[in-house]
Amino acid sequence: MALTHLIAGNWKMNGVGASLDEARAIAEGAAALTRIDMLICPPATLIARMAALCAGTRLAIGGQDCHAAQSGAFTGDISAAMLVDAGASHVIVGHSERRTLHAETSAQVRAKAEAALGQGLVAIICIGETLAEREAGETLAVVTGQLRASLPAGAGGSTVVIAYEPVWAIGTGKTPTSADVAEVHAALRAELVSLLGAGNAGLIRLLYGGSVKPSNAAEMMALPNVNGALVGGASLKAADFLAIAAAV
Ligand code: 13P
Repeated sequence: MALTHLIAGNWKMNGVGASLDEARAIAEGAAALTRIDMLICPPATLIARMAALCAGTRLAIGGQDCHAAQSGAFTGDISAAMLVDAGASHVIVGHSERRTLHAETSAQVRAKAEAALGQGLVAIICIGETLAEREAGETLAVVTGQLRASLPAGAGGSTVVIAYEPVWAIGTGKTPTSADVAEVHAALRAELVSLLGAGNAGLIRLLYGGSVKPSNAAEMMALPNVNGALVGGASLKAADFLAIAAAV
């Protein structure tokens, strides 16, 4: 069964109220792109405003991280329930910037994903190898290991999305070859089949992320086992993000 592509934008720590104009333009553009699903994950401060703006449109809104606990003494953190309350339907967990800069382990990522699922959010679980790991020939072992250790109980096509983002391709303009992406995604699909069974595994979308732009989107999105993109920098401008989405 062909999965509907998901084109997701991760705004990272970018965007203030003035950026709502870009979100409005993306939501308007999404109306015509009925073959795909579209999502923007803005900074937490914009979620509620953007969710209100996009209510009734084809553009969904997500968070960029959540805490594993439902509430408590965790200064600065946001729970999955808070994201739902603000209007989010999805949340990214385990982005490499969180794994690296906040030392998050796959066990923590799994706990966050389980908290997200517990609140009815779709968890977008990020995995990816560093340049040193790729050069050492460890890519497949690293990403399948991260996948195994990060996957929550209850994972299925309607609850999780996996995003393969090679760390060295994020924000660098560098991308793996199409053959490399296809090889990793095939390995991730095979790992999901062994963990969840073929029926369930076949329903989980596998996104590619890392320097996706209008000029390379068509080639990446046509690869086997690539069911969408997680876009950073190019998602900040409506024209670029819509061009990527239109390339599917
Ligand atoms: P870039 O598209 O800016 O490389 O970022 C990718 C990313 O990290 C999305 O989560």
